[in-house]
Amino acid sequence: MESYTEKILITGALGQIGTELTNRLVEIHGADNVVASGLDKWQEGISSAGHYERLDVTNTKLVRQVIKDYEITTVYHLASLLSGTSEKQPLFAWKLNLEPLIDFCEMAKEGLIKKIFWPSSIAVFGKGIPKENVGQEVVLNPTTVYGISKMAGEKWCEYYFDKYGVDVRSIRYPGLISWKTPAGGGTTDYAVEIFYKAIEDGKYTSFISEDTAMPMLYMDDAIEATLKLMDAPKESLTVRSSYNLGGMSFTPKQLAEEIRKEIPGFEISYEPDFRQAIADSWPASIDDSTAKNDWKLSYNFGISEMTQDMIKNLRIKLGKN
Ligand code: SER
Repeated sequence: MESYTEKILITGALGQIGTELTNRLVEIHGADNVVASGLDKWQEGISSAGHYERLDVTNTKLVRQVIKDYEITTVYHLASLLSGTSEKQPLFAWKLNLEPLIDFCEMAKEGLIKKIFWPSSIAVFGKGIPKENVGQEVVLNPTTVYGISKMAGEKWCEYYFDKYGVDVRSIRYPGLISWKTPAGGGTTDYAVEIFYKAIEDGKYTSFISEDTAMPMLYMDDAIEATLKLMDAPKESLTVRSSYNLGGMSFTPKQLAEEIRKEIPGFEISYEPDFRQAIADSWPASIDDSTAKNDWKLSYNFGISEMTQDMIKNLRIKLGKN
């Protein structure tokens, strides 16, 4: 295996995944080898990375300059508009979710960077696909702008690998649950909001109906999976579009029951909004055996462990312990 000191750029570093992935990458590679970027102005403590660049990822010229200035070898390109928000700004979502990915692939093709990570999503599947245990190789039929942009992105990743050997790796994340940074604009966000409301108000109104199951993953498992995929030897990878990740599957009703074990009086009600139709077009559970075979994907958190950890940490964060 080629050996070199990794210099990492993270786009969307202040987002839900970015914040925690940056922390882990700093632990592994040291703060000086990690450059965080986001749209916010720099301020003290904005990120755990040793460097912060205020960066609009659609500004190719500026991105290229940052890559050159820091001699970046690896990019975790996380900046993206999630499913709910994308429906409100379809053309911008297409531009943001796709064009910078292609730019990074071009940079890898030119030899400017060596490796790229890019997140895809369970949103790629869409309508007409069996709900349960959806496999790696099913036909993709997304009906949302977000899903369409992720599907196209996956095909670009595969194209750049097949045609130019670009080492771009990807995961189809399910809904991600975390307590450090809130989610923003996704259909699975109810599974994060519910914990804040349970602790602060003892009740929550879900915008997803009670029996809608979706695949979900605790952030700790998502971060470890991402690092595992990026560390895997090239030869072991058989998927260059994006790997299925199943995590756990549950409905709002099942999550509420789990929360009630920790917060006995917790009440839930349901007022589905436009995101219900998005959820209805997504799978309920995912078959991730290819990732388990290729790079030893594994999980530490099920619904009970995740619920206990969320409530413990959020109580501290919100000063409600
Ligand atoms: N969590 C994402 C969303 O709901 C799915 O990739 O948009």
